[in-house]
Amino acid sequence: MKVLVVGTGAREHVICNTLKDDVELFSYMSNINPGISRISEFKQGNESEVDKVAEFAKEKNIDIAFIGPEAPLGKGIVDKLEKEGISCVGPNKNAAKIETDKSFMRKLFEDYNIEGSLVYKVFDNYDDLSAFLDDFDNDVVVKPVGLTGGKGVKIVGDHLKNNEEAKIYAKEVMDNKMGGFSQVIIEERLIGEEFTIQAFCDGENLSPMPAAQDHPHAFEGDKGAITGGMGSYSDKGGLLPFLSQENHDKAVQIMQKTLKAISKEKSPYKGILYGQFMLCSDGPRLIEYNARFGDPEAMNVLPLLKTPMVDICKKIVDGNLTNVEFEDQASVCKYIVPDGYPETEHSGEIIEVDEEAINKLGAQVFYAAVNQKDNNIHLSGSRALGIVAKGKTISEAEAIAEEACQFVKGNVYHRSDVGTDKLVQERVKHMEEILK
Ligand code: GLY
Repeated sequence: MKVLVVGTGAREHVICNTLKDDVELFSYMSNINPGISRISEFKQGNESEVDKVAEFAKEKNIDIAFIGPEAPLGKGIVDKLEKEGISCVGPNKNAAKIETDKSFMRKLFEDYNIEGSLVYKVFDNYDDLSAFLDDFDNDVVVKPVGLTGGKGVKIVGDHLKNNEEAKIYAKEVMDNKMGGFSQVIIEERLIGEEFTIQAFCDGENLSPMPAAQDHPHAFEGDKGAITGGMGSYSDKGGLLPFLSQENHDKAVQIMQKTLKAISKEKSPYKGILYGQFMLCSDGPRLIEYNARFGDPEAMNVLPLLKTPMVDICKKIVDGNLTNVEFEDQASVCKYIVPDGYPETEHSGEIIEVDEEAINKLGAQVFYAAVNQKDNNIHLSGSRALGIVAKGKTISEAEAIAEEACQFVKGNVYHRSDVGTDKLVQERVKHMEEILK
């Protein structure tokens, strides 16, 4: 079977890694990812130029295409590939609206009475927005309606001082049509602990993967700018130390209902559904959906996969997904990023990665936004690579991942606190206080 993976980052590297032993692997990527390039036949090109991706897929007689990032999904890559007779793991343009159009997503919750939503309003003019915020007593989150590569969401108490600053930013979002819409969404700011559930979906049914928790802040102790995610952990049993089975199941049920609603409203959703939840005092509430694997969370769950990925892909395409099995282990992923990230001052510099030493410790490397040139690995402005370790406990996995980080040399840093017992216990305590 010939499988094409579209995308260039660590998420796509780990997807390729889970497929490589069972398929003839092809990839289409914007940068030359050192990990993907050595295990697949690849073409370098912009993944959002969907006609060109389809041309490559046709030329190589691809059976199944696995779409990694959201941008090509929003451009209708699945519609194009399916027209050419190529099956896809990834939703078509209409079904991907669950991520690419946040006002559609919120309305779906209303129309289908799906629990776990929140107070929100969509605006297309400043006067209404301003009047709403003058009367709103809680802090808010300002979100562009469309895709902004993870950079458009701003939170009062984090990036914005108060709701007055939220007004100014919301106006900017509308005026500049950020994300492609001249609208903006204002949502209530939720208080709780965030967690991620990713699920394989065949249009009707879903099979959830172990829950994970990402760390969006740049620096230790959840300080600094919000980034694409500095690392994540998952635990034995598929839950998290602060997430009960009951609340986990409620979140999965919200996703299952959403899947059915998308199918009725748009078209069957086949691919990966990523649910980002906030565990609040009254249970899980949905912050947002992504129409793809999470990055870094894909690196927690896929190394634990026991069911062959190619079988899952076939079942997604054929619409007969059954339960997917994972190793019962914890995992920790630590992202190595350029010094100064999310600023881009070290772009182009060379880093050294001693993969042999990292593997010897039992950890794995998944390359992200780096470029392979003349046998060297060059930084870009974004996250460089994920180091992943598994263990009987989160602490055990953390110790291995942390030790492995020393084998990456250059102007880089990582968050040494991701997955540490201290930080995990702080999360547990925080949740206990909220539930009191
Ligand atoms: N972990 C955040 C994301 O994948 O968008």
